[in-house]
Amino acid sequence: MHFDFLVGCSPAHYFVCSNRRTGRRTGRKPITLAVLGFLIVACDTSGPDVRAIDPDTGRWYGNELRNQGEAVFTANCASCHGGQAQGLAEDWRARQADGSFPPPPLNGSAHAWHHPLSVLLQVIDEGGTALGGNMPGFASQLNRQEKLAAIAYFQDFWSDDIYAQWQQMGGTD
Ligand code: HEC
Repeated sequence: MHFDFLVGCSPAHYFVCSNRRTGRRTGRKPITLAVLGFLIVACDTSGPDVRAIDPDTGRWYGNELRNQGEAVFTANCASCHGGQAQGLAEDWRARQADGSFPPPPLNGSAHAWHHPLSVLLQVIDEGGTALGGNMPGFASQLNRQEKLAAIAYFQDFWSDDIYAQWQQMGGTD
């Protein structure tokens, strides 16, 4: 329940993406380039096609992406979420001394599977600090491919049953 605030908390991203064609020309190259650069970061659709089903895994990601994700996750996420995405806190639902919640497991035992891919990407981009949480945002550190790879890595711990429930809750939307 307490992570529900993360769902759809950033209309700004969609605003920027859907308004890219309405931007006025400034005629000033540096500014135009800066704006373009921002749009490319904000609307990055590079990386794997998440709508395709991989023949080996039967999921949206393949083993190669999952393996790349292991490296991304180990370097950026494991210190808080655990090397196997199992979580490090005794009880991820119990507030810590400072009132914040500990990093939850992402291996299917908590509720990361309630969030479709777009929301998972948004959490990784923005983290939780703006909303009083402790997770840092990775928007400027990881590209889309790396973020998807990290997600593939922790989703690979999900049972087929949890994965099917995730698909019903939006899945790759
Ligand atoms: C400094 C610790 C820290 C690091 C590093 C970190 N996280 Fe988190 N993460 C958290 C915390 C704490 C939360 C709970 C929300 C909050 O308080 O910000 C969270 C929440 C999440 C959630 C939402 C889970 C849910 O059940 O809703 C996802 C997904 C997630 N993290 C993925 C990642 C990924 C992927 C990485 C690496 C790229 C990462 N995190 C790195 C601390 C961290």
